[in-house]
Amino acid sequence: MATIMVTGGAGFIGSNFILRYLGEHPDDTVVNYDALTYAGNLENLAAVKDDPHYRFVKGDICDGQLVSRTLAENDVSMIVHFAAESHVDRSITGPDAFIKTNIEGTFRLLEAARANKKIERFLHVSTDEVYGSLGATGYFTEETPFAPNSPYSASKASSDMLVRSYFHTYHMPVLTTNCSNNYGPYHFPEKLIPLMIINALSNKKLPVYGDGKNVRDWLYVRDHCTAIDIVLHKGTPGETYNIGGNNEKMNIDIVKTVLKLLGKSEDLIEYVKDRPGHDRRYAIDASKIQRTLGWSPAYTFERGIKETVDWYLANRAWWEKIISGDYRRYYETQYKQ
Ligand code: NAD
Ligand code: TYD
Repeated sequence: MATIMVTGGAGFIGSNFILRYLGEHPDDTVVNYDALTYAGNLENLAAVKDDPHYRFVKGDICDGQLVSRTLAENDVSMIVHFAAESHVDRSITGPDAFIKTNIEGTFRLLEAARANKKIERFLHVSTDEVYGSLGATGYFTEETPFAPNSPYSASKASSDMLVRSYFHTYHMPVLTTNCSNNYGPYHFPEKLIPLMIINALSNKKLPVYGDGKNVRDWLYVRDHCTAIDIVLHKGTPGETYNIGGNNEKMNIDIVKTVLKLLGKSEDLIEYVKDRPGHDRRYAIDASKIQRTLGWSPAYTFERGIKETVDWYLANRAWWEKIISGDYRRYYETQYKQ
């Protein structure tokens, strides 16, 4: 019968988390606290909007007073913190919002949780990008030193450090997860996989940065949500857990897979100027969460990518609305470099 507050619940992973969580925990209540930036979309949550166990509060995590009031009025006992600016390319062209939301916002949230006294768990959702870039071999473990290379990953690393300090200084029951790249339904079409799907469907060029050989370790979003649920309920406060799909792919292979699934020609591929500070390879050693909490991914990449492509085919209205709205200007000018 717990009430959990999910920050950033209208975004890609947050909305997938809420949809799954309400199904798995029908006695719990979820308060979705989200500022509805360009990346927040309440349509993702249409299926639960009338659920008596779901509430939405429009708010910025930098607004400490509103966060405190929301925690108190809803008798929240657990926080799952997704809210962030999440796109590396945007952090390169405009880092301010990343510093504000990811660092100051996390700080305000921690302060509100500390003052509240009823918070039993504070789960901070972070990324493997805090560890920097790998060469051809090796894996990120929970002991890998932070070496962020983009304003996005630097702001996430800073927030991870703040969360850590609240455990050691104030004994707050915090948990941190560092996950690899997610993909799946409701993924905002500025990120690699959804961008490639919708460009291919529109017969637009597919912009591949650099030589296309950068490697990411892809995890189906539902598997990430399951892992977060397990860490929230069974993880040890003060610990961090790496989450990954053990599924390394070069970007060019992802793009070719998408084209194949859609029956489109590889002529649509266009190599473009590389991203500044582009991390070469990410790969997660997820043995700690597997060993201590029994989590492992349920989806193979073949199944996950097929379901993802099918979802974008079946939900054209969802992404067409996004690319014809305010986001359009960014989408159209993004890669003319
Ligand atoms: P997203 O950009 O799709 O969603 C972010 C959500 O946060 C949006 O709903 C937005 O409205 C909200 N938000 C932004 N600023 C806010 C603010 N100041 N106050 C309140 N709400 C605000 O992001 P995502 O891909 O779902 O990522 C969620 C979290 O998971 C992030 O913390 C990200 O760093 C982390 N993460 C993402 C990935 C990935 O592959 N997408 C992988 C590992 C970790
Ligand atoms: P992205 O989805 O932005 O995630 P992240 O930067 O957090 O890993 O990018 C995934 C990879 O795909 C990354 O190596 C950059 C590359 N990429 C492209 O080649 N073209 C694109 O248009 C985008 C958005 C990304």
